[in-house]
Amino acid sequence: MERAESTERTPSDRSRRSLALVTGAASGIGKALASIVARNGHDLLMVDIDEEPLSKHADRLADVHGVWTEPLALDLTADEAIDQIDDRLAAIDGRVDVLCNNAGVPVYGRFTETDFDDERAMIELNVVATTALTKRIAPRMVDRGYGQILHTASLAGVVPVPTAAVYGATKAYVRSFSLALTTELRGTGVTVTTLCPGETDTGFLSQGGMDRSAIPSRRLQSPRAVAEAAYRGMIAGDRVVVPGQWDRLRYVLGRLLPEAVSARITERFWSG
Ligand SMILES: NC(=O)c1ccc[n+]([C@@H]2O[C@H](COP(=O)([O-])OP(=O)(O)OC[C@H]3O[C@@H](n4cnc5c(N)ncnc54)[C@H](OP(=O)(O)O)[C@@H]3O)[C@@H](O)[C@H]2O)c1
Repeated sequence: MERAESTERTPSDRSRRSLALVTGAASGIGKALASIVARNGHDLLMVDIDEEPLSKHADRLADVHGVWTEPLALDLTADEAIDQIDDRLAAIDGRVDVLCNNAGVPVYGRFTETDFDDERAMIELNVVATTALTKRIAPRMVDRGYGQILHTASLAGVVPVPTAAVYGATKAYVRSFSLALTTELRGTGVTVTTLCPGETDTGFLSQGGMDRSAIPSRRLQSPRAVAEAAYRGMIAGDRVVVPGQWDRLRYVLGRLLPEAVSARITERFWSG
C-alpha cells in the first residue's frame, strides 16, 4: 500500500510498546476502538477492507498519539487474509498483545427472502475469519503467557433474532466461542472479553437491508461509548461487556425469558 512519504513509518520505527491488532478499524466501533487503543499508547496494526479511510485513520492516530500504526487493507474473508496479516506481523517483528476481533457485517430480512450469497459472505467474515484469526494469534499469546482478546459479538447473539436469523446466529456463535475461550484460557495469562453491544450508530445500520430510520435515536449508542466500555472491560479482563444500562437490562432479560417470548419481543423490536 502506498503512503505519503511524510507519514511513512518503517518497522524499525516501531517501539517495543504493546502491539494491538484491530479488525474493522476504518469505521464504526473498530475505528473508535483503534483511537482508544492508540490513545492508551499501544502500537497498532489496523485491518479493514476499505483502504482509503483506513490509511487516513492510521496516519491520524500516529500523528495525534505518537504511536506506530500500520494500515493493512484486505478482505478478511479471502483465503490468504490470515497469512497476509501474519506476513505483516513477521515483517515488523510484531507479537500481538491485544487482539480486537471486531469486523462484522449484517444481513437483514426474513430468511425466506434474503440472499444466501450475502449470508454465506457474512458467515465467512463473522464466523470463519473471526475464528481463524483467533486460532492464529491465541496460541502464541498462551505460549508467551500474556495477551488480551476482545471479540465483538452483539445483543443479537443472546436471543434468536427473527428478521436477522443468520446474523443473530453468527453472533451467537461469536459469543459462545468467546465465552468458552475465556474459561479455557483462564490461568494462562490470556484474557478473552466478549463485547455485546445493542444498536450502535454506525454505517452498519444502513447496510444489509436494515431501515436505519426505523430505530429511535434514543435507542442508539455512540461507537465511541461502546468502544470506551469495551476497552475498559478488556483491560480489566472482564468476561462480558454490555455497554449502556438499557442494553444491560436487555441482555439480562434475554437470558431469563423463555426463548419463544424473547424471539417475539426481538422480532417486534428489530422491526422498529
Ligand atoms: N452497529 C451496531 O448496531 C452493532 C451492534 C452490535 C454489534 N455490532 C458488531 O460490531 C462490529 C463492528 O460493526 P460496526 O457497527 O462498527 O460496523 P461498521 O461501521 O460497518 O464497521 C465494520 C468495518 O468492517 C469492514 N469490513 C466489512 N467487511 C470486511 C471484510 N470482509 N474484511 C475486512 N473488513 C471488512 C467494514 O467495511 P465496509 O464499510 O466497506 O463494509 C467496516 O469498515 C461488527 O462485528 C458488528 O456485528 C454492531
